[in-house]
Amino acid sequence: MCGIVAYIGNQQAQPIVIKGLKRLEYRGYDSTGISSHDEESLHTLKTAGKVSDLEAIIATVPANTATVALGHTRWATHGVPNDVNAHPQTSNSGNLVIVHNGIIENYASLKKELQHRGFTFQSDTDTEVLINLIQDVQDKENVKLGKAVQIALSQVIGAYAIVVFDRRKPNELVAARLGSPLAIGIGDEEFFVASDATPFIEYTKNVIYLEEEHLAIIRRNKAIKIRKIEDDLEVEPYVEKLQLSLENIQKGGYDHFMLKEIFEQPKAIQDTLRGRLLSQEGVITLSSLREHENRFLKAKRILIVACGTSWHAGLVAEYLIEDFTRIPVEVEYASEFRYRNPIIYPDDVVIAISQSGETADTIAAINIAKEKGAFVYGICNVVGSTISRITHTGCYTHAGPEIGVASTKAFTTQITVIALIGLYLGKANGTLSRSQYQEYVTELESLPNKVESIFASQTYIEEVAASFETSQNCIYLGRGYNFPVALEGALKLKEISYIHAEGYPAAEMKHGPIALIDKEMPVVVIATKKGYYEKVVSNIQEIKSREGRIIAIVSKGDTQVKELADYCIEIPDSSESFAPILSTIPLQLLSYYIAVQRGCNVDQPRNLAKSVTVE
Ligand code: F6R
Repeated sequence: MCGIVAYIGNQQAQPIVIKGLKRLEYRGYDSTGISSHDEESLHTLKTAGKVSDLEAIIATVPANTATVALGHTRWATHGVPNDVNAHPQTSNSGNLVIVHNGIIENYASLKKELQHRGFTFQSDTDTEVLINLIQDVQDKENVKLGKAVQIALSQVIGAYAIVVFDRRKPNELVAARLGSPLAIGIGDEEFFVASDATPFIEYTKNVIYLEEEHLAIIRRNKAIKIRKIEDDLEVEPYVEKLQLSLENIQKGGYDHFMLKEIFEQPKAIQDTLRGRLLSQEGVITLSSLREHENRFLKAKRILIVACGTSWHAGLVAEYLIEDFTRIPVEVEYASEFRYRNPIIYPDDVVIAISQSGETADTIAAINIAKEKGAFVYGICNVVGSTISRITHTGCYTHAGPEIGVASTKAFTTQITVIALIGLYLGKANGTLSRSQYQEYVTELESLPNKVESIFASQTYIEEVAASFETSQNCIYLGRGYNFPVALEGALKLKEISYIHAEGYPAAEMKHGPIALIDKEMPVVVIATKKGYYEKVVSNIQEIKSREGRIIAIVSKGDTQVKELADYCIEIPDSSESFAPILSTIPLQLLSYYIAVQRGCNVDQPRNLAKSVTVE
């Protein structure tokens, strides 16, 4: 949540920071601002709204030649999104400027103390408290900015990624992190600091991912110094090479990132499988699993922790891993798990699933599992993310950057990784016969093509979407492996179109939700051939008898459901276990077109942010 970009070097800073903020808008987009410092003075511009609104303001003021600047795009936590609460925030002296991502939990008590000492506050933000705390330390202790930041942070409870500068020393930036990510790009006599590396990929491939509780002092034309906040110990920066390219993070001719990412799924799944699945030899190579195979095979239980769409992938994992391995699996919302004193045994294996690898609740759940001695395996998309670092081992989905706020290719590639894990373990512990294993392996390899073939229905799905334009509610139904897909379909619809949608196991309808059915209620039913087809057909009959409008996802060649449903979208036939990878695709497209037809901002839905780094 919230995107930070800072620059110090020899180029004009403002355009670099603004361009970078646009790339980080997926992290929050309710207000924004920039502070830059030229030879003489500090210039701060802030506004409620998007980075494009800030650009419009910049266009009305004289051009700025500053070579150091801090920018921010916000997802409000403390204080409504308005100009005053937007970042950067400035200290009472007017000298210190900060951008912050995270939450200072003890801000109220710190604010009170500062008010006693005469500090005043313009905004409702916790960030203004932090920058004044830094000023207070500087005033009292007469220390350099880096030291003042370090002392102030030691009094703070909460999470932060910050960048600070002092207008009296505009050749220096101080950055620090705890719980929220920060990447530092090292260019030719220039440095970039950002919430992820996308703002600087065209300038440098050299990046340092700042570690938890580390602070960096970045001086113009000098080497970066990094030290631990806790004990002042200097640490050697670890410079990595970025694998991202500019093309990866552009829309590439699509109207929205979400649409691009939906269409990228055949390739994304292929990339997830690449080098890991040798179907002809019947071999799955996942080095992270091979090295720790015994931990998995001896586990009495696998616990899965995740949030949102990743939690839905976790539900699919419950079905699939139990089916393939007979190891019991439990799936938990990370946000519940972390606060409910969970029972964790040292021989449990915990799998954490996260696209961003930065979700605060999932990180907290991992830490609890580790404290209790469990072995933690991470499934992440973002390379170098916090979760990929704090888990004992894991594997990447390799889906490529997912920028649309609504998760699409992350979900299908997470399930692909889960399929690999299930197959690997099922073969290793002998619960899958050789022929079953080989059949699944062959089918897995065919999935990218099957996904591709669903896109032939794109225009039809767009037409189906038109019938939703005035809908206020929608129900999604599925059974077995398709139940998590019903939840995921409903989540996609509500988050981008603002239509209220609920997912249910189809058989649960008669225990209550059926009361909602009338001729106004669209019901999306996933009724693929393998699994509980006949049962789902009965559920469709029940809806039909109550005049509900039925949109069905069916296997190619279906005839039975076609007679009952108002609309049928066909997908290729598959085993029950891999059906979610296919059945979710038309639901993504359906939500997308409904949202577009309702005039919603698909890539930046209201109130949301892509990476939820606050709890
Ligand atoms: C929904 C969506 C969210 C995320 C959730 C977890 O489309 O994107 O529900 O799935 O915030 O995020 P990650 O996977 O990054 O941990």
